[in-house]
Amino acid sequence: MGGVLAARVRAPIALVAAFARANTLLSAAVIGLGVLSGALLPVFMLASGALVGALGASRSALFPTVIVIAVFAAERVMDPLREELGRSLWRQVDQSLTQRLMVAMSAPAGLAHVEDPAVRDRVVQAQGGLTDMTPGQAAYYLAQVIAMWVQGLGSLVIVAHFEWWLAPILMVGYAVVFAVSRRHWHEVTVVLYGRTEALRRSYYLRTVALGAAPAKETRVFGLAGWLVDRYRQGWLAVMADVWRARREGWWTAVWAALALGGAELFALWSVVHAGLAGVLSLGAATAAGQAVLGGAVLSQYQDSHWLLSECGRALGRIDEVETATTESPPARSPDAGLGVGWRPVVGGTESAAGLPRQAIRFEQVRFAYPGHPAAVFDRFDLEIPAGRSLAIVGANGAGKTTLMKLLCRFYDPDEGRISVDGVDLASLRPDGADGWHRRVAAVFQDYVQFELSAYDNVAFGALDRRGEERAVAEAVELAGADRVVGRLAEGWSTPLSAQFSSGTQLSGGEWQRLALARALFAVRAGGAGVLILDEPTAALDVRGEAEVYERFLEVTRGTTTIVISHRFSTVRRADSIVVVEHGRVVEAGTHAELLAAGGVYATMYRLQAERFGAL
Ligand SMILES: Nc1ncnc2c1ncn2[C@@H]1O[C@H](COP(=O)(O)OP(=O)(O)O)[C@@H](O)[C@H]1O
Ligand SMILES: [Mg+2]
Repeated sequence: MGGVLAARVRAPIALVAAFARANTLLSAAVIGLGVLSGALLPVFMLASGALVGALGASRSALFPTVIVIAVFAAERVMDPLREELGRSLWRQVDQSLTQRLMVAMSAPAGLAHVEDPAVRDRVVQAQGGLTDMTPGQAAYYLAQVIAMWVQGLGSLVIVAHFEWWLAPILMVGYAVVFAVSRRHWHEVTVVLYGRTEALRRSYYLRTVALGAAPAKETRVFGLAGWLVDRYRQGWLAVMADVWRARREGWWTAVWAALALGGAELFALWSVVHAGLAGVLSLGAATAAGQAVLGGAVLSQYQDSHWLLSECGRALGRIDEVETATTESPPARSPDAGLGVGWRPVVGGTESAAGLPRQAIRFEQVRFAYPGHPAAVFDRFDLEIPAGRSLAIVGANGAGKTTLMKLLCRFYDPDEGRISVDGVDLASLRPDGADGWHRRVAAVFQDYVQFELSAYDNVAFGALDRRGEERAVAEAVELAGADRVVGRLAEGWSTPLSAQFSSGTQLSGGEWQRLALARALFAVRAGGAGVLILDEPTAALDVRGEAEVYERFLEVTRGTTTIVISHRFSTVRRADSIVVVEHGRVVEAGTHAELLAAGGVYATMYRLQAERFGAL
């Protein structure tokens, strides 16, 4: 019970603290306005009571009349003010909370948290994605809720002043009805929150139907109807549970409201009776009667209350995400439900500047993706000599991309270690100017097509050198993307998306050249010493590939380069080649050595050569 009570006190404090964090002055103004507008009605009750009393007794009614007029005037002024400030605070709170979430999600150098379904649930919940009502809206309603409390309590004080024993009766009635509705809505919300993943699946379908990227396949395969149908069904299935929960609490709410209505009628009757019996004056009875009705706001659990607790829930979710992404598991609360089976990749303090000078080594590495028990690698060994090029060959799903993700330290190995010149990768600082990520440049298999300017797509390779236009242009030229950029309507600044006005959509190969240029810019301007190319030329035509790749090797000579490719024309140029199969390096050597050995590599090479020969 003590815990519940403490939480009841803590929650509003946390809420106000979050609002104040967004904008202290504005929060104070909104709270102040709430108190003031809440006080207006009780003042009006007293003044109108005094007015009736004065008129009945033929006294001067000037003072109460002035007060009544002042209350009306104040209301006229305060309403739009409350509206304006409330809306402004709403936006600022949303912005502040979204920012916290972005920072928390970007904090770990790793990827496990990004892919954890429990974390994804929290992200949607923290943004109000389940209800399409952002937590910041609570800030808009804060003044209204405060006004209701002040008005209600003020009314009860007036009731107590004239008929003291009525106040506690009404108070209990209000509290019970409020608690019943609050509980009901809480239960409904718990049902909704429990269906977060189901809703996320349904929202995904919406994204597919609305997005530009999936539009080709949704049409050619005729998926539109199915998507809309499934979206509706998924949503309805969740809502059916929610509506059931709503129905279950409905009658309780009706009974509670009826009981409260009875209590209020009784209170009104008592006031009227006292007035008629001459115990209360006409003025006093007028004020008390209004106060009985005015106190009823204390019983009303409205959307505004619900939004405030919803905002409190969002704050809790952000706290959970922050905890999961910054603290190691023992420090984490066991009931947070996040990060089962993974540690956030954070920490490491040693500088990575200039590394590697000798070699990167996978030493007896075991790794399974979090939440997926089957290990991709177990006791895996590999040496990547510094300053040279290594090609990795292997079937789909052999784990080539996973190796590169481990090398980037997106995940830490479960056992064994990856060392850079003998230093454990986990003890290197992942971020910052001398961090490991700055040492690495990569073109991933699923490289990002930033729907931003062509320039930014390349300059992102070394953000702190973004201003060096010449270096950007050089990287573009070396990647053979200069012709692409030359054709763009607005040159460099053309947005690379048909979704923006004057934007363009590039072809797959053109995009790949830009991704290559980005990596080159990272190496040449950003000083990255390790270059990862995961199927970097898969979308290039044969001539383009030969041209680009040759130039690439030339330019990146001295850089530790790892290239994953199915094209032997690319692979054969590497200083050394490894074949990965079933989580092991099964062959290693130069192209000539591997051909001579007559193993897996030689077989694969001949197959491809034959096929191209036959063409
Ligand atoms: N994020 C992930 N979560 C769980 N399993 C994954 C993830 N990424 C890849 N895998 C699995 O790991 C295995 C190796 O994948 P990958 O390294 O991408 O193979 P390759 O690049 O050699 O084709 C595959 O079985 C794949 O399903
Ligand atoms: Mg791959």
